[in-house]
Amino acid sequence: MTEINEIFICPLCGSPLVRQEGSLFCTGARRHCYDIAASGYVNLLPPGKKNNARAGDDKDMLRCRSRFLSGGWYDPISDTAARLGLKAIGGKERITFADAGSGEGYHTCRIAQQFQQRGISCTGVGIDAAKSGAQAGAKLARTSGLDSIRFIAGNIFALPLADHSADLVYSIFAPIPGEEAARILKKDGALIVVSAGREHLWELRCALYSEPRISEGVQMPAGFTPAAQETLSYEIDLPDPDTIAALFAMTPFYYRCPREGRERLLSLDKLKVRVAVDFTVLTLDKDEHKN
Ligand SMILES: C[S@@+](CC[C@H](N)C(=O)[O-])C[C@H]1O[C@@H](n2cnc3c(N)ncnc32)[C@H](O)[C@@H]1O
Repeated sequence: MTEINEIFICPLCGSPLVRQEGSLFCTGARRHCYDIAASGYVNLLPPGKKNNARAGDDKDMLRCRSRFLSGGWYDPISDTAARLGLKAIGGKERITFADAGSGEGYHTCRIAQQFQQRGISCTGVGIDAAKSGAQAGAKLARTSGLDSIRFIAGNIFALPLADHSADLVYSIFAPIPGEEAARILKKDGALIVVSAGREHLWELRCALYSEPRISEGVQMPAGFTPAAQETLSYEIDLPDPDTIAALFAMTPFYYRCPREGRERLLSLDKLKVRVAVDFTVLTLDKDEHKN
């Protein structure tokens, strides 16, 4: 199996990173150095972003997402993502995957667990611009006994991962780094995009807006061909205002809905809401991977 550190490259000069004791050093002339935290977390954000507290989602958003996801409401999403990944890798016993925009790593860890339960050895990397998200992911991986899953703070549009190093790249409710996914994927790899379906969280939208709109879907990146498409749709019964508030805080509506809508939603005692999620499995166009 690929040793976890072998797939990282230096965000400054692009040279491979090698582990020496508690750090990753680049093999370039400048020997750039990145410390590995006790949890396994590494900060590979390019300079300038490294100390930018506003990179990625903020701490409140990440905390609410962790609280909501740990209730299991979205587990069918990672179940489906893992199943489609298994199908896409077509019988390989060892794989490397990246989760681009992994947040606090809930889906990343569940996907890795499902691969392992089916006898697949996997090396996985969760990448997020939010340092606190990547740190939370590293802790979750550690407490879940997932030694071969590493979480890094990094920019998904300049992934610190080697060319052709991944069998699968996941993009789950996150911006889609098409060019970078094409660069790091192996020739037979796949990009799996998980995005809001047309009626995702419809009842929540109805509480927030007097004229709610259906989701328009996301633009798939150039350089890929759709190999499979699925929609997952089910209802969840949110039992209390705290759970409603946690779901609300992890949606894009949190920052942009009208004040009356926010108040209306947050005054509800419970809410039945539809989860509708699109899964698109993309393979590389033939003229990608010329190198
Ligand atoms: C809606 S959240 C989804 C998180 C996770 N995939 C999930 O479904 O729980 C989108 C994530 O993408 C991250 N993100 C946005 N732009 C990014 C970038 N350029 N590089 C790395 N992460 C980014 C955010 O910090 C956030 O955690």
